[in-house]
Amino acid sequence: MSRAPFLLAPLDGAHDRAKFHCDSQPLNRYLREQATQDIRRRVAACFVALAEEQRIAGYYTLASASLYLADLPASNRKKLPRYPTVPAVRMDRLSVDHEFKGQGLGGALLADALHRSARSEIAAFALVVNAKDEAAAAFYGHHGFIALPDSPLTLFLPLATVQHS
Ligand SMILES: CC(C)(COP(=O)(O)OP(=O)(O)OC[C@H]1O[C@@H](n2cnc3c(N)ncnc32)[C@H](O)[C@@H]1OP(=O)(O)O)[C@@H](O)C(=O)NCCC(=O)NCCS
Repeated sequence: MSRAPFLLAPLDGAHDRAKFHCDSQPLNRYLREQATQDIRRRVAACFVALAEEQRIAGYYTLASASLYLADLPASNRKKLPRYPTVPAVRMDRLSVDHEFKGQGLGGALLADALHRSARSEIAAFALVVNAKDEAAAAFYGHHGFIALPDSPLTLFLPLATVQHS
């Protein structure tokens, strides 16, 4: 098992996308075939964790989103203005290469996404994720994310709870 330190950076053309391999084929394919187009069209930003020699050990994407106020738990809803929606940042496709799993990298990428979102000058109430299955939802729950009452694979974390650094 590798213990290499990681550098977190926006995806760019020098990074080796071909070697990335996680449990999910759609997530491998997205990085190889779609991510750079999405970046160019400004429909997603992609951030990677780099191990030695431009090797991608993990990645995630961020994009603007919104949440219906009515979908939030009552305890969150009552602290918000009565607009139909609240702004959010959506994190998609968090994934870690097989070789680097279980070393805290998934948690580190999640923390990076939260800090990037909380630091932005554009306001967003929460980071929201669509978990691909129950195991992924459990990972987010473990990190304090709250499931939408009627849609348990959609989870959010209010950005006001994220400490700035
Ligand atoms: C989910 C995934 C990103 C986790 O990455 P990882 O680097 O192996 O996870 P970490 O080592 O950072 O784990 C961080 C913490 O989460 C916990 N954790 C990991 N997977 C978990 C799960 N499925 N349920 C609950 N907790 C989990 C770990 O025990 C660890 O806890 P600790 O900080 O208290 O020790 C990785 O397994 C992956 O790429 N899976 C395939 C794609 C996927 O499911 N993505 C999810 C988004 S749809």
